[in-house]
Amino acid sequence: MIRLRYLNPWFWMRKTLPRTLFARSLLIIVVPALLVQIVTTIVFVDNHWRKVSSRLAFALAGEISIMVQEMEEGRDRARFEDLKRYASQSLDLLVTFEPNRELIPGIETSGTWEPFTAEALSHALEQQVRKPYSIALDPDDEWINIGIQMDQGILRVFALERRIFSSSAYIFLMWLVGSSIILFAIAVIFMRNQIRPILRLAVAAERFGVGRDIAHFKPEGAREVRTAARAFLDMHERIKRQMEQRTAMLAGISHDLRTPLTRMKLALAIMPENDDTHALKSDVSDMERMINSYLDFVRGEEKESAQRVDLVNIFDKFMHTVQRSGKNMTVKFDGDTSIIVRPIAFERALQNIVSNAEKYGDMIDVSIVNHGDLMDIVIDDDGPGLDEKYYDDVFKPFFRVDASRSIDSGSVGLGLPIAQDIILAHGGRIWLDQSPSGGLRACIQLPV
Ligand SMILES: Nc1ncnc2c1ncn2[C@@H]1O[C@H](COP(=O)(O)OP(=O)(O)OP(=O)(O)O)[C@@H](O)[C@H]1O
Ligand SMILES: [Mg+2]
Repeated sequence: MIRLRYLNPWFWMRKTLPRTLFARSLLIIVVPALLVQIVTTIVFVDNHWRKVSSRLAFALAGEISIMVQEMEEGRDRARFEDLKRYASQSLDLLVTFEPNRELIPGIETSGTWEPFTAEALSHALEQQVRKPYSIALDPDDEWINIGIQMDQGILRVFALERRIFSSSAYIFLMWLVGSSIILFAIAVIFMRNQIRPILRLAVAAERFGVGRDIAHFKPEGAREVRTAARAFLDMHERIKRQMEQRTAMLAGISHDLRTPLTRMKLALAIMPENDDTHALKSDVSDMERMINSYLDFVRGEEKESAQRVDLVNIFDKFMHTVQRSGKNMTVKFDGDTSIIVRPIAFERALQNIVSNAEKYGDMIDVSIVNHGDLMDIVIDDDGPGLDEKYYDDVFKPFFRVDASRSIDSGSVGLGLPIAQDIILAHGGRIWLDQSPSGGLRACIQLPV
């Protein structure tokens, strides 16, 4: 059965129209211009050029017809010689007579314009000479060969082609094509310049989306594009301010808490060891870890320059820590595992994921595959896994599935959000899935 949408002309239009704004705008300019030119050409060739050709052909046929009449009246040699001289001097025609010859009537032409000219000439000869005739018209030869069947032979007339060929059509078409090419080139340059600011805006929005700097972006171009760019910059400013406020507040709190915490640690250190102080010490170290997490989170935007690092080295480091805690970890890889990243931040992102896997499972399997333009990093664990409905929530700051239990271990629910921030800032993506080994699978994809 034919699907209904295949019958919809809009569907075909959408499918066949070019996708880019540049190509579409050019189409809007070029198609009407082309249509106007085609119509003009048809009207011109059909009307003007045919008329001019037929007038010129009539003039030539008239001259030939006078010669034919003259010859039919006189018929002596001297008279023909007079006629010949007169024709070559005044009419630009070369005339010969081939006695006792039979003419094969017909028209022989080739080339683009010659058939039109020959047609006009044959029409004129039929009307004015009214005798069997032949025409040979060749684009390489500037002479037209016209034969007229007389009673005692053939009257052959050679006329210059330009006598009946109107070159205005030629010139007209040259102008048409030439000016079209020039106009098209100008249109291309202008359209490019119009579209460039839109492209710049798109690039800036994309960069901002992945957390990159857009300091060099300036509104430019047509008024509408400028308005959109200014609106985008305002939005960018607002979001940046909000982010900065949030960051500053969190950083302030964490910083201020550190000082009393350090004092508490000092006080605890000089207290005698007993169960109470032991519990207090453990609470203080949990608090310290939590505060460090907050600081890590707000420090995400810190400037660090990108470097090439080898992922296998990073995971090897993790493997040692994991093994020290009595758990297992394997790392498999395919292709070049080096990648350009901000090393400290990137290692922190991976660390957060690996430490989750270590916390919930006993076995961690890492696989790294380089696809040429993308790098896939998959981290599996054999823990209890996570209900699918939490896959998005766990990336929100301070979200923990089992808040009451995990708070004991000093976790705050910032591990995955920090990891996501960092991965996004590298232009990558991170998502969760079910692991074949039963636990949770974290997938990271990065541009190489
Ligand atoms: N590998 C995993 N297996 C099962 N649940 C997980 C796993 N990783 C994360 N989770 C769930 O997602 C929640 C959020 O993880 P996230 O790393 O953001 O915070 P956290 O580990 O609780 O605290 P933090 O990492 O800040 O110390 C965790 O509380 C946990 O419930
Ligand atoms: Mg965590």
